[in-house]
Amino acid sequence: MTVTRRSLLRGTAAAAVGAGVLGPKALLSPAAAAESLRLAAEGTGRYVGTCLTLTSALSDPAYFAAVVKHCSVIVAENEMKYGALRPLPAPAPISTTAADLLLTLGELNGMRARGHTLVSNTAFPQWFNSVVTPENCGRLMAEHVTSAVTAFRGRVFSWDVVNEPITGDGYYENPWFNRIGPGYIDTAFRLAHEADPACQLVLNDYGFEFTSAFSLTRQATLLRILRGLVERGVPIHAVGLQGHLEAQAMREEFVPAQHRDFLRQIADLGLAIIISELDVDDIKLPTDQRQRDVLIGDCYKRYLEVCFDEPAVEGVVSWGLSDHRSWINAGDREKYRRADGTPQRPALLDGANQPKLASAAAAVALERGRPVRARVR
Ligand code: XIL
Repeated sequence: MTVTRRSLLRGTAAAAVGAGVLGPKALLSPAAAAESLRLAAEGTGRYVGTCLTLTSALSDPAYFAAVVKHCSVIVAENEMKYGALRPLPAPAPISTTAADLLLTLGELNGMRARGHTLVSNTAFPQWFNSVVTPENCGRLMAEHVTSAVTAFRGRVFSWDVVNEPITGDGYYENPWFNRIGPGYIDTAFRLAHEADPACQLVLNDYGFEFTSAFSLTRQATLLRILRGLVERGVPIHAVGLQGHLEAQAMREEFVPAQHRDFLRQIADLGLAIIISELDVDDIKLPTDQRQRDVLIGDCYKRYLEVCFDEPAVEGVVSWGLSDHRSWINAGDREKYRRADGTPQRPALLDGANQPKLASAAAAVALERGRPVRARVR
């Protein structure tokens, strides 16, 4: 590990910290190495982002300051989902107040925004089930895609157009698929492109990291669907790989060369790649914090080294920048609740917004990655 000290300290924020923080043992120490992830990513042209809620942006200034320090991109965690934007069916206009405020806070602090998400399996408006019919489903989708993309045109450089469309070896049977058929994906992309021709349009999904049958099947399904979209000339520009990593599986079933090859196959289709919702689920790791952090840091290191070796990977977005702001610790999901009752440590920063081994590992991977290939958009 020779790179890090000098190169990680490039940039103004780092310089302001001064040499005092960095002793000879500082290499890879959580306190020093991740001074600013955004700066660590600059040399290779990648961006670093996080999801953010309006509530945490407004009520947790220390967290917001950490987001500004480390990120160049934000994603509304829930505020731009279908149900949030459409409390009432058309002809009522979409409701952009919360999202607009969140984007404005980002813009005032020099952060760009990705949009999440237009057409998904969840987060439907409450009225949806009582209004939708096989006949009007296509119109409801079109109304939503067109009005949402239009509302944020010029402010969102990249939209998750379709979220989590696959399952096993086929399409996830969501309300769109069930009424419109697989063509809903093509239509959603075409409508989004018409509404904002300059926007990067993304298909976002999870569960591709491992050599388990589950993951390998999903990889093959994704590649097959992407090939079809590209062949039909559908305006898709990037794939979002969510990157919700389960720590134990990362140890047992993550094969770097296999994943590297998967990324290359996406890149070969001419698509960009975004690691769009990165976090580490430590449900099966030991209680001891130090031990746990080492294992979590190892997950980040091994995963991101592979990702940043691929020039098509243009950015990484964490799904919550600090442990206390992660959806994993929100308490509403049984599957993320540790048996020992301690909070998980899934994020890059700890619960006090301080760097830890995970962010140090990410910073080094960002620094050492191969430069991003020329962007199509
Ligand atoms: C999650 C949010 O983080 C939670 O606050 C919300 O309760 C449910 O949705 N994949 C996605 C995201 O695409 O939209 C999900 O976000 C996390 C999994």
